[in-house]
Amino acid sequence: MMTLEAIGGTAKGGTLYGIGVGPGDVRYLTLRAAGLIGSVDVIAYFAKSGREGHARRIVSPLLNGSRPEEKLEYPVTDEFPVADARYHEPIAAFYREAAGRLSTHLAAGRSVGLLAEGDPFFFGSFMHMWHRLEERFPVEVVPGVTGMSGCWTRANKPITWGDDTLTVLAGTLDETVLTRRLRDTEAAVIMKVGRNLAKVRRAVDAAGCLDRAIYIERGTMDGERIVPLAEMTEEAGPYFAIVLVPGNGRRI
Ligand SMILES: C[S@@+](CC[C@H](N)C(=O)[O-])C[C@H]1O[C@@H](n2cnc3c(N)ncnc32)[C@H](O)[C@@H]1O
Repeated sequence: MMTLEAIGGTAKGGTLYGIGVGPGDVRYLTLRAAGLIGSVDVIAYFAKSGREGHARRIVSPLLNGSRPEEKLEYPVTDEFPVADARYHEPIAAFYREAAGRLSTHLAAGRSVGLLAEGDPFFFGSFMHMWHRLEERFPVEVVPGVTGMSGCWTRANKPITWGDDTLTVLAGTLDETVLTRRLRDTEAAVIMKVGRNLAKVRRAVDAAGCLDRAIYIERGTMDGERIVPLAEMTEEAGPYFAIVLVPGNGRRI
């Protein structure tokens, strides 16, 4: 029988690892993620300015501070809309500079583990490094349990049955677009609910699915909160907030 460490494996020099760390509870980490977190030369992660960084916090029980860390601090986060030049210009410059920092380690033969909350290829900032670096360096991406999957599990709600279509929407979309898309699907996940909570609630109501919609804050993390969306009267929620509309499809 192999040990769990042997199954997880170790990192190769000069390789960029996009490591999905799951939705919040460190126990949802994959064996491959744990193996790499224990063996990469450099631990890298994104963080809001002055904060620890969500992905770094999730895996903190596995780190003892003995290895170099690259903290990539966003110059802006949600202060301005994404299309606004005040967001776009500093963030583009920041991603260029962050890719430069990581490439210095990779070119020197060091392995870099870039931590990503949930799954790296699902709305992850990791992707901005991936597309800048993947032609120049070997890259391995380790899938993670997504936030939405952690949330429907914690809510104890199956999301799709039978032939249900699942639509994943961003809460930043226009209210009319949200309503139209919600009317046209059996099951839905609405990401990036935070500041958009009131708008999302109105769209879910207009689409006729408020009676089965669930609001989840910090799913699987400390401070987790799970309530029917219909009971949410607050204008806004935290960054880690999601709305689920479970499908009602064929049950045998
Ligand atoms: C930029 S996306 C990152 C998604 C992540 N890569 C994943 O695989 O879930 C961030 C959004 O995901 C949702 N989210 C991720 N994890 C969550 C959690 N544990 N609880 C609630 N919402 C979560 C929230 O809507 C949040 O605004």
